[in-house]
Amino acid sequence: MNIFSLVGKKALVTGGTRGLGKGIAEGLMEAGAEVTIIGSNEKVYKLADEFCNKGYVCHGVVADLSKSENRHKAFKESLDLMKGLDILVNAAGIQRRHNSEDFPLEDWNEVLNVNLNAPFELCQLAAREFISNNKKGKIINISSMLAFFGGFNVPAYSASKGGITQMTKAFCNEWASKGINVNCIAPGYMDTDMNTALTNPDNPRYIEITNRIPQKRWGNGDDMKGCAVFLASSASDYVNGAVIPVDGGYLVK
Ligand SMILES: NC(=O)c1ccc[n+]([C@@H]2O[C@H](COP(=O)([O-])OP(=O)(O)OC[C@H]3O[C@@H](n4cnc5c(N)ncnc54)[C@H](O)[C@@H]3O)[C@@H](O)[C@H]2O)c1
Repeated sequence: MNIFSLVGKKALVTGGTRGLGKGIAEGLMEAGAEVTIIGSNEKVYKLADEFCNKGYVCHGVVADLSKSENRHKAFKESLDLMKGLDILVNAAGIQRRHNSEDFPLEDWNEVLNVNLNAPFELCQLAAREFISNNKKGKIINISSMLAFFGGFNVPAYSASKGGITQMTKAFCNEWASKGINVNCIAPGYMDTDMNTALTNPDNPRYIEITNRIPQKRWGNGDDMKGCAVFLASSASDYVNGAVIPVDGGYLVK
């Protein structure tokens, strides 16, 4: 028996069009899952086709998750496409950078809305689906090192990631006895579009961060696959409310 197999499982991945979410979606498909990717624009259809051409079962749904009504609509559309749900991954996220004293309230609200309010509602929708069907379910929320550290110029992002981490623990306390595993992955510094402001090799902050990572390199979408498959599979059936760093050792240095 392969305890990491996801054959027959149906997974919904937000933010799966690029970066870490794309790596996670691909990892789940490689382990056998059928996946629906929610993307913010129609490029998601092309990506889903590309995955289908590789032999996976993949669907695309377009939704701007900053709006509550879109979350509900996209969730229903995804479940209609897959005819069920076993795994939810909340990977969509945004970043805004300003000095804290000048951080606009508008940007604060935008970040909290996408990074925390959207996962909150999608977790609720998934839990209701699992509980009403008396079925086991796996929820994976993507947190960050900034659940542990405050960071620089990113107070809204830090607040959102602290929030999603605590929210995960709160949900675990209520839903674990109902057969739901809800955990966080806390990625370290990852070389994705979100970090183009930092990843110029001449940027002193890039050098400072790279030097602090014991593995001496930034992570990528492929680095997320193993932990995501673990948390989505029966291999993690007794792992609940956890926050697992995937950070090349950054957190412990
Ligand atoms: N890159 C890092 O260093 C890092 C570190 C820790 C955590 N994370 C988290 O990992 C997740 C993925 O980040 P990434 O680095 O791949 O970033 P990315 O910018 O490459 O991808 C973000 C994804 O979120 C989607 N998204 C953003 N706003 C959306 C909206 N309103 N509606 C629907 N989809 C929306 C984008 O379309 C994209 O697919 C995020 O939650 C991020 O906070 C990233």
